Amino acid sequence: MRPLVATIDLTAIRDNYALAKRCAPGRQAFAVVKANAYGHGVREVVTALHDEADGFAVASLEEAAAVRALHAEARILLLEGCFEAAEYPLAAQMKLDVVVQGEQQAQQLVSAALAQPLNVWLKFDSGMHRLGFEAPALRDWHARLAGAQQVAELNLISHFACADEQGHSLTEAQLEGFLDLLDLDFDQRTLANSAAILMIPAAHMDWVRPGIMLYGASPFADRSAADLGLKPVMRLNAALIAIRDVAAGESVGYGATWVAERDARIGTVSCGYADGYPRHAPSGTPVVINGQRVPLVGRVSMDMLAVDLTNLPDARVGDAVELWGEQLPVDEVAQAAGTIGYELLTQVTARVPRRYYNG
Ligand SMILES: Cc1ncc(COP(=O)(O)O)c(C=O)c1O
Repeated sequence: MRPLVATIDLTAIRDNYALAKRCAPGRQAFAVVKANAYGHGVREVVTALHDEADGFAVASLEEAAAVRALHAEARILLLEGCFEAAEYPLAAQMKLDVVVQGEQQAQQLVSAALAQPLNVWLKFDSGMHRLGFEAPALRDWHARLAGAQQVAELNLISHFACADEQGHSLTEAQLEGFLDLLDLDFDQRTLANSAAILMIPAAHMDWVRPGIMLYGASPFADRSAADLGLKPVMRLNAALIAIRDVAAGESVGYGATWVAERDARIGTVSCGYADGYPRHAPSGTPVVINGQRVPLVGRVSMDMLAVDLTNLPDARVGDAVELWGEQLPVDEVAQAAGTIGYELLTQVTARVPRRYYNG
């Protein structure tokens, strides 16, 4: 068997969810499990949080159906709402909570024949400028939807653009815009993603929406997950499958981009970009072997990557390699590769077997 596995600690996910709840005491929390639970496996994550989570949040009706099949009662929030009119009756049948983020969705909702009314979350564009109504249109739709036969709860949702950058002026403006709408009568309000859960208590409202923090990565560039009290969830483990000596002046890998400055010992690791390891990770990106960091060298291949083992003379073929996990935070690899932990976690591909443990 190819030595590559993503090991996922479901107890750590539960602990991280509990931390989100402790940060926002008395509030409820939608566990964000879109994109296959950020790459961790929606079936296992929803099952692990079945008795803890107040609700789940997803990006599509298809994702919602997968969660509903695992949990008959949970509130499930469709973060982008329905993509076509035919989805409203299905959303009602599945007892989903739906975001309404624009004119077309709102019109389709009030024209829909539903078996039962839906909990509706009117989306306010507080400054992200991606989805949502400006304040005047939101006020109009609030008046039209209050008491509409398709609507059960009428709720308010918005999303921060820069909550991961502490003290950003846009965050304050977004919060103010949200608070300005609270003269309207909403049943429930939600604003905070992980960054705001951890740093902006004034944004906690009635429901929070933790995503990345559940998976043990930091939403901040300058604060580590460990600092925030988060537990790492995914460990990506491979093995050394070959070792060779390379003389000074010889190159390693495609494009011959890395050239040994001294005689070097090079290890080949069973993980590549077709597994989700970032191809753009530069030489020098850390990799852990036998508890020690060694640098990636040369271009990442489809199924393999190379490391410089010169300072690790005891390394042998078959030794375990951690690409990220407890010894090497995914955020550190992401930073080296010029991306964010979110991208690395969601991009671990289907060919990497997931192994789960439950404390
Ligand atoms: C609307 C919305 N709420 C909450 C989240 C969770 O954000 P995070 O993973 O930063 O906690 C996301 C994720 O992108 C989102 O799109």
